[in-house]
Amino acid sequence: MSRKTLDLSEALSGYLQQVQPELSDIERRMLEETAQLPGAGMQIAPEQASLLSVLAASIGAVHTLEVGVFTGLSTLAVARALPAHGRVVAMDIDAATTERARAYWEAAGVADRIELHIAPALETLDGLLAAGKQDRFDFAFIDADKRNYWHYFERCLALLRPGGLIAVDNVLWHGKVADKNENDATTAAIRDFNARLREDTRVLHAVVPVGDGLTLAVKRPTSSTTRDAQ
Ligand SMILES: C[S@@+](CC[C@H](N)C(=O)[O-])C[C@H]1O[C@@H](n2cnc3c(N)ncnc32)[C@H](O)[C@@H]1O
Repeated sequence: MSRKTLDLSEALSGYLQQVQPELSDIERRMLEETAQLPGAGMQIAPEQASLLSVLAASIGAVHTLEVGVFTGLSTLAVARALPAHGRVVAMDIDAATTERARAYWEAAGVADRIELHIAPALETLDGLLAAGKQDRFDFAFIDADKRNYWHYFERCLALLRPGGLIAVDNVLWHGKVADKNENDATTAAIRDFNARLREDTRVLHAVVPVGDGLTLAVKRPTSSTTRDAQ
């Protein structure tokens, strides 16, 4: 037993990769080829991908939201955990990186489960709300521009069914959130997101130190999703 999360040494991090579920050939290619791209550091860690698959499967997710696709690893992780009729509404503004993502999804045989929207995610989410899709989704993963995190969270919460789960990446922001000398707008936005969520009675949440920090929030059955809407 331990009351503190382990520091991951290089050796332990290597061991963690050895005991994770084996990556598929497509996932290996996604990791290797994305590592050569500008912005490679934006990709989620393989252990986060495994966790997203487990989370989506564990709640029997069918309809899901993905805010921030990049080259498609997190989308693939969720899509492969869905039943054949499941759907990911995936959102990004970058047509070039998501073209790569689409090729990987096709190679992995999950492209027909993914509906990609190339537009600012707030527009896509507002479109879903305007179309009356409140309470329709089971799972959401938020991993796009950090300054909009709270806005994404509010909209995803409204779109989720009670008992649905939202996962939010980068909540520990490379450790900057704990450094008083770091006060750039992105770090401030993540601190603000973390502080707001702590007070939010509409969800049950946990902050998990995996990858760059992943917050998991379950929508409580009785929650009103209109509070604090912006
Ligand atoms: C951290 S990356 C996503 C990584 C991805 N989840 C993965 O598994 O590799 C963030 C993505 O958010 C996208 N993005 C930035 N601003 C956006 C916006 N306003 N709307 C939608 N996507 C946005 C970027 O183009 C980028 O691909």
